[in-house]
Amino acid sequence: MPVSMLVLAGALAAGQASAQTKSVPDSHPFRQCAGCHSLDTSANAFGPTLIGVYGRQAGAVPRFAYSEAVQKSGVVWNDETLRKWIAGNDTFIPGTRMRHVAITDKAQQDELIEFLKALK
Ligand code: HEC
Repeated sequence: MPVSMLVLAGALAAGQASAQTKSVPDSHPFRQCAGCHSLDTSANAFGPTLIGVYGRQAGAVPRFAYSEAVQKSGVVWNDETLRKWIAGNDTFIPGTRMRHVAITDKAQQDELIEFLKALK
């Protein structure tokens, strides 16, 4: 059996399949994102996977159909750009196809940025 299958089997056995999303607490701001962004290691859902997003160039996940706006933005995801994105993604990168989000509470922004940073 390939290693990846063994890993998957292990995760299933431990009851962790599809789970990372479920383990996000109800009160966590990522709840507003999880419907579109899978936390499976490499799977794209309606939105691209956010695993490894911190430090990455915008629009860089293979086989995800980004908008031209995001692809050509030249943005690299860091504290500053992520904060602007979650505060108003379509103001920061007009023409994005991600639905409008507006998380303006600084504590929630911090929580989200820390969360995204830890997705590796
Ligand atoms: C309705 C579905 C939806 C929701 C809800 C959503 N997203 Fe997205 N997200 C997308 C789509 C679609 C894209 C690709 C946008 C594009 O190509 O213009 C995207 C792109 C992104 C990107 C850029 C990824 C990259 O590889 O460049 C980040 C970062 C991101 N979303 C974070 C979030 C966060 C954080 C939230 C919650 C506050 C969220 N998204 C909520 C659908 C969604």
